Amino acid sequence: MTDAPFELRSVTLHNGVELPTVAFGCAFGDWVGATEFQGFLPEQAWRALSLALDAGYRAFDGAHAYGTEGILGDLLGQRFASGELQREDVFVTTKLAHPAAPPHINISHLRTWDADKVPDIAQRLRDDLMRSLDDLRLGYVDLLLMHWPGPFANTDAAFARRARQTIWETFAELYEKGAARAVGVSNFTVGHLRQLLEDVPGLRPMVNQVEVHPYCRAPELEAFCREQEIAVTAYAPFASGAFGLLQDPTLVSLAKAHGVSVGQLVLRWHLQRGRTVLPKSSNETRMRQNRDLFGVSLSEEELQTIDALGAGETRRSCPDPAAVL
Ligand SMILES: NC(=O)c1ccc[n+]([C@@H]2O[C@H](COP(=O)([O-])OP(=O)(O)OC[C@H]3O[C@@H](n4cnc5c(N)ncnc54)[C@H](OP(=O)(O)O)[C@@H]3O)[C@@H](O)[C@H]2O)c1
Repeated sequence: MTDAPFELRSVTLHNGVELPTVAFGCAFGDWVGATEFQGFLPEQAWRALSLALDAGYRAFDGAHAYGTEGILGDLLGQRFASGELQREDVFVTTKLAHPAAPPHINISHLRTWDADKVPDIAQRLRDDLMRSLDDLRLGYVDLLLMHWPGPFANTDAAFARRARQTIWETFAELYEKGAARAVGVSNFTVGHLRQLLEDVPGLRPMVNQVEVHPYCRAPELEAFCREQEIAVTAYAPFASGAFGLLQDPTLVSLAKAHGVSVGQLVLRWHLQRGRTVLPKSSNETRMRQNRDLFGVSLSEEELQTIDALGAGETRRSCPDPAAVL
């Protein structure tokens, strides 16, 4: 493929920071139910992240909860030591405030918590960010996100709203002292965003990272984010490989017509619709493909054909954020 139109390589956030459009997803494991083990498997990150760095990825989407930040930190450290990379060459995202997982999912209780179970939310966030930075061996992250708007099983809407306000005010403090170059949210609906904008008018989120793929669309949320200059990042851009998305006959035929893989077609659709993406792969060929998106261009009609695949029942690989009060 030929070289990229520059404007698709990064998105300028409303504080001027450049957000790379393609970042490597650093969550490993299975939470979709495809295998018997349900939970994170950070050990898979050693080889995948090493290959991703070799393949040219310089942006990494991590989270305190994933357990992979120490691995990324070690691999980056080796490249800093050899002089191959400098801090400014990489864009590292972390997320804090992941709620406790349902009991059948094996995710560390040390890295996840419910806002109604911690005595001091602000202090917990400061401690978690310092633990993430220690693991990453970095002095700051490029992007800090609130992982979820609240605990999955909470029934107290007023408490959840106050907790989000406290979390966001603490993020403002961390941003102001330079521990994060940009701050945002994840899994926020229009309702969550409206409340936050009202409760903390001084700091507008720069990013909202949400599940979007051809079987899970959020046009109203995206329109609202655009209005508020909040960049939208599509997580699980391939639906975590579930629901037969990558075998969808419409996508297969469009990919064939353009001489690209279905993965590339889907990522290109995301980019042309104005989203940044976080593809994850453990396979060297596919991870290289997932960065090679800039020589193909889809027509508006083709984009609409892919949009229409999401017109039926929404299929999600993660819980529905609308159920989080
Ligand atoms: N904010 C949140 O709450 C949240 C939630 C979920 C995920 N995320 C972020 O989003 C990232 C990506 O999501 P995800 O890990 O769930 O899954 P994903 O990127 O949607 O899908 C990964 C699956 O797609 C396959 N794949 C990758 N590239 C492919 C290609 N070009 N062609 C065909 N198959 C391909 C992979 O298989 P192979 O490995 O065999 O290639 C793997 O099975 C995560 O790692 C994480 O950083 C955030």
